Amino acid sequence: MIYSPQQIDEAVGSLARQIGADYRGKPLVLLGVLKGALYFTVDLARALAGVADGPSEIEVDYLCVERYGNATESKRPVRLLLDEATYLEGRHVLIAEDIADNGLTLEFVRTLLLGRGPASVRTCALFDKPSRRHVRVPLDYAGLTVPNTFVVGYGLDHQERYRNLPYVAELKFQESQSELT
Ligand code: IMP
Ligand code: MG
Repeated sequence: MIYSPQQIDEAVGSLARQIGADYRGKPLVLLGVLKGALYFTVDLARALAGVADGPSEIEVDYLCVERYGNATESKRPVRLLLDEATYLEGRHVLIAEDIADNGLTLEFVRTLLLGRGPASVRTCALFDKPSRRHVRVPLDYAGLTVPNTFVVGYGLDHQERYRNLPYVAELKFQESQSELT
């Protein structure tokens, strides 16, 4: 196990306090990137509700993207699957992402939303693999650092499995089976 449920909970609480202070008195649109940020977005919204003097109100919404291949394999490595957030003009938007890896997903979503005339767009990722970043995208709020390994749990999957784990663990790939450590 890399991060326990308690460590994740504390990291979400700490992000909520920072974000809450920065958006104090302002209405915020919290936009989760599915599917990975499913749990994080909900827990962050709940934690933000508990921050005294935080945002004046919070709307929670989602969009869904699919990341496939890598930048060298494909010219369009991120595909938009669900996008209802068309009302962002003049709004303060915070993108909630599960993990910032190469940074392509965040960059794609950020560019998309900036085109909708929001008052501001910031980015937040619960997990961060800084050693893997090759797209320069601002990460305004980062939670827990993850080493350069493949991790699953708390929303993160491998071929749709393991998302439901309450902790984050490394998935080691072996010849015939994979192992959680
Ligand atoms: P990026 O576009 O390379 O930053 O990748 C971001 C997306 O890839 C995340 O939203 C995840 O869905 C997925 N991803 C990256 N690293 C991991 C990992 O270690 N485990 C599971 N999913 C990952
Ligand atoms: Mg995935």
